This record gives sequence, structure tokens and C-alpha cells, in this order.
Amino acid sequence: MAQSLSGSMSSLIPPADSPGDPNALYGFWYPALRSERIRERGLATAMLLEIPLVLGRDAAGRAFALRDACPHRGMPLSCGWFDGSAVECSYHGWKFDAHTGQCREIPSLTADSKLRVDRIFAGSFLCEERDGYVWVYVPDPAGRPGSDDSPPPAPELPKFGQRYRITHLEADLPCSVDHGIIGLMDPAHGPFVHQSWWWRKRHSIHEKQKQFEPIPNGFRMSTHEPSANSAPYRLLRRLYGQPVTTTIDFVLPNMRTEVIRCDEAWFSSRATVTPVRRDLCRIDFVAAWNVLPWMLGQVSLLRFFGKRFIRQDQETMIRQAEGLKHNPQLLLIDDADRPAKWYFALKAALLESRRAGQPLKHPIEGPVTLRWRS
Ligand code: FES
Ligand SMILES: [Fe+2]
Repeated sequence: MAQSLSGSMSSLIPPADSPGDPNALYGFWYPALRSERIRERGLATAMLLEIPLVLGRDAAGRAFALRDACPHRGMPLSCGWFDGSAVECSYHGWKFDAHTGQCREIPSLTADSKLRVDRIFAGSFLCEERDGYVWVYVPDPAGRPGSDDSPPPAPELPKFGQRYRITHLEADLPCSVDHGIIGLMDPAHGPFVHQSWWWRKRHSIHEKQKQFEPIPNGFRMSTHEPSANSAPYRLLRRLYGQPVTTTIDFVLPNMRTEVIRCDEAWFSSRATVTPVRRDLCRIDFVAAWNVLPWMLGQVSLLRFFGKRFIRQDQETMIRQAEGLKHNPQLLLIDDADRPAKWYFALKAALLESRRAGQPLKHPIEGPVTLRWRS
């Protein structure tokens, strides 16, 4: 970061720990926070994969993300000031370009100083806004292959027209990202955790059979007609008089996308489970739809149900975290936990492919039918 700043004029104090978490998936975009949290000259903080970030928006409205630690002596830059283009540290007033992190000014330097200020950088991250989130690209801190310098664009929720409504929900989950993700894809908890008159009841448990197929970096529950025992799907079918279809994808590092279509109506949603710290993750849920503008299209109604749904998961995981504290032995069973097994296999395959510099060897070879009761 700050090599050859000009001989003896500077010296580096190395960081205390080795870079990164060997179990983390670097080289991906993660949603850092909601777009609405950064406005005008304000600075906001977030944490992704244990990396503290300070985020803001330049005078032109473009979002930026810097490591929330001054490269001088580590003061959080979020304690400083932002003038619309540079962030000034609150400790000794060093100034950094908001987008590149390049140092622009060190107030303590005398006119004859030989220090190359422009060779000092605060850590900076690629930033893109999509669907009301600021996404940050988190490269591999050890520079392993796979997390390249030209990442793909940040993920976008699929939409099927210009006119739609959109809403967002979030919840912190006090567990590792792995438990957050397998909780998200778990088909068997529904009748126990999400019991309610409008969704499903315990006695509505019945056998299900679903077809899955491999997709790049993930797997898909192939397009099918969703369960007839859920009121919202029944209602849709009744209203549009057409079959309802749903397709659910999971892709690494953390994303479940579901697209429901019925005639010209569509409902598209995405849940991401983002690693904040090793013991904390956050679920972000975004949905967009053009369905029933006169009724269910009411954002507040969807939010009411969605919030309840997510709160049920959150409360479950808070209780589960108690049980996980002492590292119990765990069991994953077929077929209900097969998606969880696939997640772990995919993650291991990705980490291995990066270690070896080889393409990912997909753990699912072809279409698979899973059966379970829920
Ligand atoms: S710690 Fe930031 S300027 Fe000194
Ligand atoms: Fe759930």
C-alpha cells in the first residue's frame, strides 16, 4: 500500500493478523447497505466479511466505499469529514480521494518534504448501486486467483417490465453465514417455523417431490407449479386463470432468487445472506412485482407478511445460536438437507478451484429429484 514513499521518510507498521478468513468467499459482490442510508455529505458504516467500511456519496451522487481505517494510524475514517470528493481523517487531517483512496494532503508536512503523498492509499472498494442497495466488491485479501481485477457487474434482481413495485426487508442473524444460508434453503422448517393461516399449517405437511439441476456456481429448483396448499399461490391461479410457475435458484456466494410468473403477472424476489463477522450475518430480502396492483400490490401488506416471515426465521436462528455456541455435532439428512449439503460442496469446490487455479468442479452432475415432507 505505502511502499517506497521516499526512503527513510516513512516506515510501515505491519498489521497484526494474516489476511482474510480461509473459509470466506472473497471475490464476490455483497450488499453493504441500503442506498437510502447514504445521502448528501453523510458517511455511513458497514461491515462485510469482517472488513469495516465507510460509505458515502460524492457530489455527483456516485457511491464510494473505503476501508474504515486511516492508513496513518488506523483512526476510523467515518469519524472524519467528507467534502463531496475527499474524506478527511479526524486525527491528523490526512485527506483521501473518496473513490480511489489516494492521499491528497497531509497537513503536517513542511514545504520541503520529500514524502510522496500520492503513493499513500486508504483501502478502496468497487461500489455499484442496484435495486436500492450499495453493493461492494470484496476482493481476496491474499490476492489468490479467482478474485480478479475485472469483476462482473453487481447482481440485479430479475424484472419483467418497466412498471413494478419494490420493497426491502432485512434482519441480522447471530450466526455464521453458513448457518444463515442453509437456514434459508431449508425446505423442512416451514410448517414449524412459519405456521399461519395464510401460509401453511402443521397438519398440511405432505410429501413433495422437486426436480433440481446444476447451474453455474449453484443449483436450480427447476421451473414447476408451486405447492397448492399456500393461499397466495391459490389466489394467483384463481385471479389470472393461468398456471403459476416458480423457479428458484441458489448461487454462490449467498443468493437465493425466486421468480413466480402467472400470465403477464410476475413476482421476483431475492434473499442474500451476507457475512458481516464470523458470528454474524444479515439477511436482505428484496422483492419486485407487478401483481395485483389493486390488492396484494399494496407494499404495506407484503411488508407486513414478509416482516413476519423473516422475524420467524430470525427468532429461530437466535434460539439456534444458543444451541450452536458449544459446537455440537450436527446431522444433515437426505433428502430435506440435500440443498444444504450441495451448498457446502459448492463452497468447498469453489475454494479448491481457486486454490488450484482450476475451473470449479460442480458437485451436482445432472438433474436430481429430491423428496421430502413439508
Ligand atoms: S490517523 Fe488518520 S491522519 Fe493520523
Ligand atoms: Fe424460513
